[in-house]
Parts: sequence; C-alpha cells; structure tokens
Amino acid sequence: MTIRDTDVVMIGAGAAGLMCAATAARRGRKVVLLDHSYKLAEKIRISGGGRCNFTNLQVKPENYLSANPHFCRSALARFTPQHFMAMLDAYGIRYHEKKLGQMFCDEGSEAIIRMLHAECEQYGVTLVQGCEINDVSRSERFVVRASCGEIRSDALVVATGGLSIPKIGATPFGYRIAQQFGVPVTKLKAGLVPLSFHPDEWSPYSALSGVSLDAEVRCGKQCFRENLLFTHRGLSGPSILQISSYWEQGQPLQINLLPDHDASDLLSAMRESNKLPVNFLVQFFPRRFAEIFGADWTQSPAMSQLPDKTLLSIIRRLQDWRITPTGTLGYAKAEVTCGGVDTRALSSKTMQANEVPGLYFIGEVVDVTGQLGGYNFQWAWASGHAAGEAL
Ligand code: FDA
Repeated sequence: MTIRDTDVVMIGAGAAGLMCAATAARRGRKVVLLDHSYKLAEKIRISGGGRCNFTNLQVKPENYLSANPHFCRSALARFTPQHFMAMLDAYGIRYHEKKLGQMFCDEGSEAIIRMLHAECEQYGVTLVQGCEINDVSRSERFVVRASCGEIRSDALVVATGGLSIPKIGATPFGYRIAQQFGVPVTKLKAGLVPLSFHPDEWSPYSALSGVSLDAEVRCGKQCFRENLLFTHRGLSGPSILQISSYWEQGQPLQINLLPDHDASDLLSAMRESNKLPVNFLVQFFPRRFAEIFGADWTQSPAMSQLPDKTLLSIIRRLQDWRITPTGTLGYAKAEVTCGGVDTRALSSKTMQANEVPGLYFIGEVVDVTGQLGGYNFQWAWASGHAAGEAL
C-alpha cells in the first residue's frame, strides 16, 4: 500500500471540492483530492438540464435555508457570481441569463467541469478517482485509509455533498465523518423535490399529468410564483420544488392558479357571463384542466345564473386551492438535501470545525441549502473558495 504525505486531503471532487482544491493548490498547498466515482462531478454534468445553472446574479443570504441564516453571508460576499463568471471569461466559456438572474452555460455543463479540472491540473492537485475511503482518523495528523493507499495530511476537507440521487454516487459519508469528530448534524430532508399525494385524493387530477400552469404556491410564510406541473403522482415544477424545501409533513399548500386576477373582478365577470363554467374556465386554462377542475359544475347552467355562493366557491377553488401533500418523492428525485453539518460548529470565514482544527466542511454537506436557480452551485463555489483561501 502506498503511503503519501500531503498538506491537505479533500474527499469529494464535485463542485465544492474542485473549487477548493484549485484555490488551495494555487496558494501553494499540496492537495490530494479523492472521489469514489470514476466520473468527475456528475452533478454538475446533469445540472440545469445539461447546461448547468451555475449561479444567480441576485444571490443574497435570504436565498438560503439554514438553522443559522447569517452563516453563508461571509463566504458569499467574498466569492460572488462575478468572480465565477470572471473564471469562465478567462477560459472563453460563454454563458447567458435565462430569467430571474439564473446564469446558464451556453456550451453545456461539461465546459464547467473541464474548466475546474484544468484549474486543478494547472496548480498540481493530485486527483484520484474511483477511490473508496475505508477509514479516517486523526492523531497528530489526519490519516485517510483508502483503496488508493494511505494518506496523511495536516488538513481534511469534506466535500461529499448531500444525499440526493444516490445512483450517481451520493452517500452519507460527510455526515458520518462529522459525527465521528463530534460535529453536530441538523435534521436532514429531501429538498427541491416533487410532492406526492394520497392516491385517492389525487385520482381526479392524475389525468392532468403534463399540464403546466403559472401559479403562486404558499406554505406558511413562504410563497413562490413560478410554473406548477401536474404529474401522475402529484405536483412538480419550479414553484413546487421551491416550496418543498420549506414544507413540513402535515402542512397544507395554498395554491393560487389565477395569481394575476382580483377575486372581485372575477366575481363580476362570472356574474355577467353566459358561458357554462367549463367554457368560462377555458379562457384562463387549457381545456383538459378546465374540464377536470370544473367537473363539479358540469351540470350547472350558465355562470350568470349561478348564485354568488357557487361562484365564490369556484373562485376559492382556483385562487385558494388547499391540498396537503402526503410526502415527497425523496432523495431519488430531489435536487438537494436540506440540513447538514451544523454551521454553529463551523467558522463562517474558513468552514473549519471550531473544535477540530484542520477539519473543514464545504458545499452541500453543510446546513446551507439554496433555493432553485443557481444558488446551490454559488454556495459550493463560495464555501469551497473560503476554505481554499484559509487552508
Ligand atoms: P457534489 O454532489 O457536487 O459532489 C460530491 C462529490 O463527493 C461527488 O463527486 C461524489 O462522488 C463524492 N462522494 C460522495 N460520497 C463519497 C464517498 N463516500 N467517498 C468518496 N467520494 C464521495 N444546483 C444549482 O445551483 N444549479 C443547478 O442547475 C442544479 N441542478 C441540479 C440538478 C440535479 C438533478 C441535482 C441532483 C442537483 C442540482 N443542483 C443544482 C444542486 C447541485 O448539483 C449541488 O448542490 C452541488 O453539486 C453541491 O456541490 P458539492 O460539491 O457539495 O457536492
């Protein structure tokens, strides 16, 4: 077995690990970067439909969920979307804003992986892929025993990400290392994930699978307005993925399917309309949706002949649809893991564990979870950069 000595061992060659390795190596640190996967940065590759929504121009601490909401502030302020775009510019990689500050790579996600890999190569990072980590311990130095040998280092950086999409290599490794060294981990749950409903409650809507509508979705104090997608098992689409990170078991969703319409204007229009309810709804929605959502009123006369009580119940159904999910589609379909290594046990400047000198956690394994729209990669770059500068 080979025994190597190095300054830093990093485990996880994803978004945060590659950024951190390149940053530390550029500063002269000897870095060994290990990953159990043979494919580099699979999550970058599949992200943003293959075009990687790599950052968001409007990034603010408020775009992140964490038990410690101010934690992300320092790292985000020191490595901004403009810093990442300057790296892309230096490599001649083109990008564009799609909407709401979301930045995508014109040439596809591979270009970003190639750039991060090139940065690591340029500064001499030793990247070992397909390397299984057997055991980590610490006496005077950290000792990592892995299928590729034993490595001793002054610092250990854990960048193994969250639990989503286990089939491309996600593992709970990072949380286990935290626990091994006495660093607390907050409650974990799938985030940015489709929501499911009881089959009996959902059966009237399953025929709407594929219908997408502009909607305002509310849960508690959180509200998102973006597209909502009906699926066979429940709801998905950006507004639902966004709210899912805030949703807790048992909470109802409150959905406004006509967010641009005032209820009293709708009532006046209904009172004056000679259309049947389904035909009235077709003005606003696809026919398939109007027929299913208006099914209760198929035998009704023209809108103008219905009592206000009925009209108001139609409006309520459209603007204040209350429905309680039974669960989520879990880590198999989630984009992120909410919760993680408790930030109260880490330095917000360096990502180092307060009680374990030399141990760092970066990226998604930390309890900092971004909303949909490029915020998670921005956290991976920023936290990786913060640790890379500190090492
Ligand atoms: P990341 O998951 O990138 O990397 C972790 C690395 O650790 C992996 O290479 C893995 O193989 C390795 N690893 C895990 N366990 C290990 C072990 N036991 N031993 C050795 N290595 C191990 N975000 C965003 O901002 N914009 C977007 O467009 C998208 N799109 C998107 C789509 C889909 C389908 C998903 C699932 C996720 C996204 N995300 C996203 C989220 C984003 O991909 C995610 O937050 C970052 O990749 C997190 O970066 P990390 O480096 O922390 O983990």
